[in-house]
Amino acid sequence: MCGIVGYVGSSRAVDIVVEGLRRLEYRGYDSAGVAVPDGARVRVSKRAGKLVNLEGALADDPLPASSSAMGHTRWATHGAPTDPNAHPHIDCHGRLAVVHNGIIENFATLRAELEAAGHHLTSETDTEAVAHLLEDACEASGGDLAEAMRQVCRRLEGAFTLVAVHADAPDLVVGARRNSPLVVGRGQGENFLASDVAAFIAYTRDAIELGQDQVVAITSADVTVTDFYGQVVQTREYHVDWDISAAEKGGHDYFMLKEIAEQPKAVADTLLGRLTPDGRLSLDEMRLSDDELREIDKIIIIACGTAFYAGLTAKYAIEHWTRIPCEVELSSEFRYRDPIVDRSTLVIAISQSGETMDTLMALRHAREQRARVLAICNTNGSTIPRESDAVLYTHAGPEVGVAATKTFLTQVVACYLIGLYLAQVRETKFGDEVAIEVDQLDRMPAAVEQALETMEQIRALARELSDSKSVLFIGRHVGYPVALEGALKLKELAYMHAEAFAAGELKHGPIALIEDGLPVVVVVPPRGRDALHDKIVSNIQEIRARGARTIVLAEEGDDTVAPWSDTLIQLPKVPTLLQPLVATVPLQIFACELAMARGNDVDQPRNLAKSVTVE
Ligand code: F6R
Repeated sequence: MCGIVGYVGSSRAVDIVVEGLRRLEYRGYDSAGVAVPDGARVRVSKRAGKLVNLEGALADDPLPASSSAMGHTRWATHGAPTDPNAHPHIDCHGRLAVVHNGIIENFATLRAELEAAGHHLTSETDTEAVAHLLEDACEASGGDLAEAMRQVCRRLEGAFTLVAVHADAPDLVVGARRNSPLVVGRGQGENFLASDVAAFIAYTRDAIELGQDQVVAITSADVTVTDFYGQVVQTREYHVDWDISAAEKGGHDYFMLKEIAEQPKAVADTLLGRLTPDGRLSLDEMRLSDDELREIDKIIIIACGTAFYAGLTAKYAIEHWTRIPCEVELSSEFRYRDPIVDRSTLVIAISQSGETMDTLMALRHAREQRARVLAICNTNGSTIPRESDAVLYTHAGPEVGVAATKTFLTQVVACYLIGLYLAQVRETKFGDEVAIEVDQLDRMPAAVEQALETMEQIRALARELSDSKSVLFIGRHVGYPVALEGALKLKELAYMHAEAFAAGELKHGPIALIEDGLPVVVVVPPRGRDALHDKIVSNIQEIRARGARTIVLAEEGDDTVAPWSDTLIQLPKVPTLLQPLVATVPLQIFACELAMARGNDVDQPRNLAKSVTVE
């Protein structure tokens, strides 16, 4: 949520920053802006709307060459997405500029204080208060921007990443973070600050993690990190294991299409190297000992949105394999209901970005109750894995499309690996049983590849249904979270009403929604689980009898559903617990194609942003 880039070096700084913003635009696209030091002042250019508007403004009125610059792409919180509310914000004299990601919760008090002291604020944002606080703090600290930043941060409440430049220090960019992401990119004779490594991956793959409540000052040669009181702190450097090509569309019209196509590889990479030569499952990055795992008597999965549905899917497998009770809870609800959590609870926090504020806050609450926290995350160096006791990374590579696709599949795989590992350690499954399940998982990249072959059929279906007002999704068992995920994708991309139900619940009310021609997508479990399968076949007949247009996803060769299917989409044959990994794929394609048919921006759906760093 909000993308920030800062640069110091010998290249034309504003160009580097604008290019970085292009790579971070998925984080927010309500406005964009840049600032450069220029003699006695900072020059700012900013525009409401997507980055292309800023690029137009810069083409008409270029900013001067400079060795430092910073920029911002915004997902609006305080103040409408207008030019004046766009970042950067400047102080009274236009000598410093600041950009911000997060929410300053005490901004009303600070603003009142600043106005009473004679400062002139022109926007509706919380951020502008920081520019004026920095103005006073710079004066008090003899023009030391890093020290001014530390003083200001100590006064701020809430979540923030801040980056600032000052006219008096044209070769310096200063940043700070609390509860919001910021990483350093270390180059040769140049350094970068960014919300995400994607912004600088074209120049360097060497990054430095910044911890909570830290201030960083970069020049072309140095990176200095301190806490909010000026104490120099040790940082962790890491090498990013993907390159610029992973952050490009690679010939696809949209990142989402590319990311859907990458799913077989994402699943394969997440599974890579998990089996030892003697057939045991090994999760060596887990950092929780087998003894600790034996003490667990309850699992709670916390996550949001698509990650939450990955958790719901995993519950079925985890309970089945481990016999440990597993709850799945929306992160945003978790800490407000006084959950029963103690040292024997394993909390699994699932987050692609590793920065989702709701999940971070839930995780902290769990740790305060002494629970052991295990993160499933796709972003190295992000806050959620850093604050967890253990982490299992999904190796999906960067996901740029705002709608999660490949990370859903890899989150399910990671949860399954954890379930099987627990079963192995606690001996609720024999070693050879675990090996059989892992072997089934190993076959999934090929099955996902096969599921992608539904692409053309789904495209035609989406074109046919592009004027529909509503689509319902139903499923049973692990098909239910798949239905929920299908409906979420359709809402966020096609802006259509879509709702998912457990198929057995239809008769308890929702069946009243069925009317002539209403599309209903049905996820049919494989035939191996006969009770489950036969029940849903009855459900299909019930809705068809009431006029629904049935779109049925069933395993190949399942001829029992054909008579009741207006459209039959054949899925590869896989075990029931693994069916979500193939059944989700056509639903992603369906939402993507419907969005395109309706003229929507698939990668940047309205009102959304990837990485939701506010509560
Ligand atoms: C939907 C989507 C969101 C995210 C949710 C959690 O397509 O992308 O629902 O799944 O915001 O994000 P992470 O996984 O980064 O915590």
